[in-house]
Amino acid sequence: MNNPSTVTALFAAALLPFSLFAQSPSLTIQVDRPTATVSPTLYGLMTEEINYSYDGGIYGELIRDRTPSQAWDALRLWPMVARGDSIVNVSADDSGGPSPALTRSLRVTVTKASPASPAGVENGGYWGIPVRPDTVYTGSFYAKADSPGIPVTVTMQNDQTGAVAASTIVTGVTGEWKRFTFTLKTGDVPASSNNHLILTIAQPATIWLNLVSLFPPTYHDRPGGNRADLMNLLAAMQPKFLRLPGGNYLEGEHIAERFDWKKTIGPWVDRPTHMSPWHYRSSDGMGLLEFLEWCEDLKMQPVLAVYAGYSLAQEHIDPGPALEPYVQDALDEIEYVTGSADTKWGAERAKDGHPAPFPLRYIEVGNEDQFDHSHSYDGRFAQFYHAIKQRYPDLQIIATTPVKGVVPDVLDEHFYMSAAQSFSEAHHYDAADRNGPKIFVGEWATREGDPTPDLQAALGDAAWLTGLERNSDLVIMSSYAPLFVNVNPGGMQWAPDLIGYDALSSYGSPSYFAQVMFSTHLGTEIVPAALTNAPPRVFASATRNDATHTLFVKVVNATSTAQSLAIDFAGVKKLAPQAKLTSMSGKTPNATNSITHPDAVVPVVRNVAVAGQKFTQAFAPYSVNVLELSY
Ligand code: AHR
Repeated sequence: MNNPSTVTALFAAALLPFSLFAQSPSLTIQVDRPTATVSPTLYGLMTEEINYSYDGGIYGELIRDRTPSQAWDALRLWPMVARGDSIVNVSADDSGGPSPALTRSLRVTVTKASPASPAGVENGGYWGIPVRPDTVYTGSFYAKADSPGIPVTVTMQNDQTGAVAASTIVTGVTGEWKRFTFTLKTGDVPASSNNHLILTIAQPATIWLNLVSLFPPTYHDRPGGNRADLMNLLAAMQPKFLRLPGGNYLEGEHIAERFDWKKTIGPWVDRPTHMSPWHYRSSDGMGLLEFLEWCEDLKMQPVLAVYAGYSLAQEHIDPGPALEPYVQDALDEIEYVTGSADTKWGAERAKDGHPAPFPLRYIEVGNEDQFDHSHSYDGRFAQFYHAIKQRYPDLQIIATTPVKGVVPDVLDEHFYMSAAQSFSEAHHYDAADRNGPKIFVGEWATREGDPTPDLQAALGDAAWLTGLERNSDLVIMSSYAPLFVNVNPGGMQWAPDLIGYDALSSYGSPSYFAQVMFSTHLGTEIVPAALTNAPPRVFASATRNDATHTLFVKVVNATSTAQSLAIDFAGVKKLAPQAKLTSMSGKTPNATNSITHPDAVVPVVRNVAVAGQKFTQAFAPYSVNVLELSY
C-alpha cells in the first residue's frame, strides 16, 4: 500500500531512540491495569431486506418474483419466449393457485409450437442468473396444464451467446396443481452472470406455473439455504449475533406490511409474500426459521426484534387490549425459537424441520420508536416488557428509544455519521452513565462512499470502534448497517453498505475489513490506551487476553502523514521480541473496493520487531492498524 519513500521514512523513524520522542506523539498502554471486561458479544451483524439483501442477496434463490404476486406489474419479470414461428401469450391468472396463500399464477397459453419451435416463459433472476462450471442447480415449480402429460423443458441459457448451460425435461404435469423438482448440471462452461431460466413446451396447450425456484449449491448445503460466498465473508467477521429481521423491514410501511413472522414459516407454498418498506416485494423465503439457521451456521445468537405495534406510515396500535394480539404474537414467536418440541410453537418449528430449540437471550421491542409521533412507545414497550418478563424472566429486553416507567435491560442507539462526525464521536461513550441500561449500538455507519464505504469511511468506522471497544463494559453489542447491497443499477436503496455483490461475485469494503480486523483481534479485558501529543485524527484502544498473554492494540491514523508513536507498554515484565502488525491503508481517503476491483484496499500482515517495553512504531497515512503482541 505504501510507496517506497514512505516505507523508508517509517523505517528510519522506527530506529530513533525512544528518548528522542519525549515530546513526540506517544501511546501509553497500561497493560497490567485492566479497567473492565470486554463484552464477548461486542461485534455482530444487523440485517434486513433492503438493497436486495435477502432476495437477490444472501438468500440463495436465483429466480426473481418466484411467485407472481399481487403487486407484480405487467409480468415484466416473466417475459414470454417464442422460438421460431411459435405463438404464446403470458398473463396473470387470479382464479386460484397451488395454495390459499398463493392465488395468482402465471398462465402460459401456447397456440402454436413444435419441438423445433417451443414456447413458454423466462426469468432473468436478480440481474442475471449466475452459471458456474460443473455445478448442480436444484429447482422446483408448481404446475398444472389443460393437456395432462405435457413435458416441460427447463433450460439455463446465456442471454448474450445463446449457449445452453444445462437443460432437462420435467414430465407428469396434470390438470391439478402439483410440485415438480428438477436438477440442472452444468459441464465445462465458462462462469457467467447473464443467463435466464427458460420453461417451454413444444405443443399447443395452456400451462399454469407458480413458485418457480432455482438454487445453486448453498452454504453448508442447506436446501433453500444461503449464498456461500456471502456467508464466507460474514464468517470471516466472526460475528457473535444477528439482529433480525430489521430495521424498517420489521415495521413495514403499514401494519399489514410488518414482518408477520407466522406468514414466513412452513413450506414456501404457504407463505403469501409481502411488500417491504424498501419498495419491492419480499418472497419471505428468508423466514424466521431461515434466520435462525443462518445464526446456527455462523455460530451466532439471534437478537430477535419483535413487531411492537408501530409502522412507518405513522400507524400504531394503542397500548392496552388492542395491542394484546401483537404481544401474544411475540410470545408465540419466542416459543417458536426457544420452545421444546412439546410446546405448541416449538412443535411447529419441529414440523418445519428443526426439532432442537435455538438459544435466545435478547429480544428487541420494535425499531426506532422515537419516530412514532403518537408517542405511544412508553405504553407499548411496558406491555411487551411485562408480558415477556413474566413468561421468560431470563430474557434481556431491548428498548429502541429511552422509555419512562420501565427500565429496559438494554437500549438500542443508532448512529449514521459523516467521517468527521465519526472522528468527533469516537469518545461518545467515555463519560456515559454506567448506572442505566446497557447499550446496543444496533445500527451505525460512517456514510462515505457509494455503493460501499471507502477508506475515509473505514477510518471513521475504525475511530468509532476504538470508542465502542474502550467502552464495551457499557456497549455490549454493536452492528453496522446496512450490511449488504446488490450493486446492480436499481439494486440499492441506501448507501453505503458494508458488502457488495452482483449475481456472480462479492466483495468486502474497506469498512468491512476494518471490522474484520477489530472483531478478530479482541481480548477479554479493556486496558487503558492513552495518546499524548498525537494529532486529533489519531485514535487508539487496547484489550488483552490474560489467559493467552496476548495484547491487541488498535491504532487509527486518519491523517495524511505517517505517524510514529512512542509506545510504552507499562506494567509488563516482558514482551515477545516480535509482534504482528495488521495494517490497512491507501494512498487517498477515497481509495475503495468495488465489484471489479475487490482488493484495492485490504489488510496486510507483517511482523515487526519489539525493542523492549518501550519502542516506536510508525503507522502509515490513512491507516487502520492492529498490533498483536505476546506478553
Ligand atoms: O439501515 C437502514 C435503516 O436505517 C433501517 O431500516 C432503519 O432502522 C434505520 O433508520
